Amino acid sequence: MSQKVLVTAGANGIGREIVRAFVEAGAQVAVCDIDVPALAALQAQWPGITTYECDVGRRADVERMVSSAVLALGGLDVLVNNAGIGGPTSSVEQFSPEEWDRVVAVNLTGTFDVTRLSIPHLKQSAAGSIIVMSSAAGRFGYPYRSAYSATKWALVGFAKTLAIELGDWGIRANALLPGAVDGERLHRVYAGRVEATGQSLETVLEAAMAGQSLKRFVDPRDIAAMAVFLASDAGKSISGQALCIDNDMQKA
Ligand SMILES: NC(=O)c1ccc[n+]([C@@H]2O[C@H](COP(=O)([O-])OP(=O)(O)OC[C@H]3O[C@@H](n4cnc5c(N)ncnc54)[C@H](O)[C@@H]3O)[C@@H](O)[C@H]2O)c1
Repeated sequence: MSQKVLVTAGANGIGREIVRAFVEAGAQVAVCDIDVPALAALQAQWPGITTYECDVGRRADVERMVSSAVLALGGLDVLVNNAGIGGPTSSVEQFSPEEWDRVVAVNLTGTFDVTRLSIPHLKQSAAGSIIVMSSAAGRFGYPYRSAYSATKWALVGFAKTLAIELGDWGIRANALLPGAVDGERLHRVYAGRVEATGQSLETVLEAAMAGQSLKRFVDPRDIAAMAVFLASDAGKSISGQALCIDNDMQKA
């Protein structure tokens, strides 16, 4: 029987690679996102998937999406909570409270809502698995990215707590902490850092790589491969972990 998988924010970036990896592994996949054209492109590429327009920061959207996705899949084995936004690059003092609330709503409360509503279905699975997308920002402080860092730390606590609460049902929960993943988002992050600090892009990139043993960006396919592994039978003894995929980052 193929695995039934729900991936949030799967239309672009890392989420899209996760969708690809699960589809290639033979899973039935449901994907939600706010980017409707990208969802349509995804559906055209993999006609077997189901897609849902859903802002995970809006509770009513999440309620509709989870029930429709689970109905279409005929159950749920794997939940990948990938959705997460960076928010502004700003000092805490200057941070807009509205933007703070939005980051918390998407990254933390959105993950809570999708997970909360998925748990009854995961309990019906023979081998439920929850993956929570944290970040290297979930184990270091990140100047000018306080909302992002605070929510990514919180998500590690959330994943570890889920692992304990759900162990009796054989459901596993783990957090992934990617480092600097090659892609569009990272370019935005570095551009923001250039603006906030006044340093050149070259200096910012050099500083970023200085903190890593392997001086290159993380391949998003490696994050996806880890997600598929964790959800597979080979990952059945792994729960409650915060797994770093970051070229051995020692500082942010
Ligand atoms: N890229 C990195 O270097 C990196 C590093 C560590 C952790 N992460 C985490 O990985 C996850 C994916 O990152 P990415 O770089 O692929 O992101 P991205 O910026 O490329 O966006 C991925 C998708 O999220 C969707 N999205 C945005 N807000 C949404 C919302 N409210 N509801 C539903 N979908 C929404 C976007 O439409 C997009 O399709 C995030 O949680 C991010 O924090 C990324």
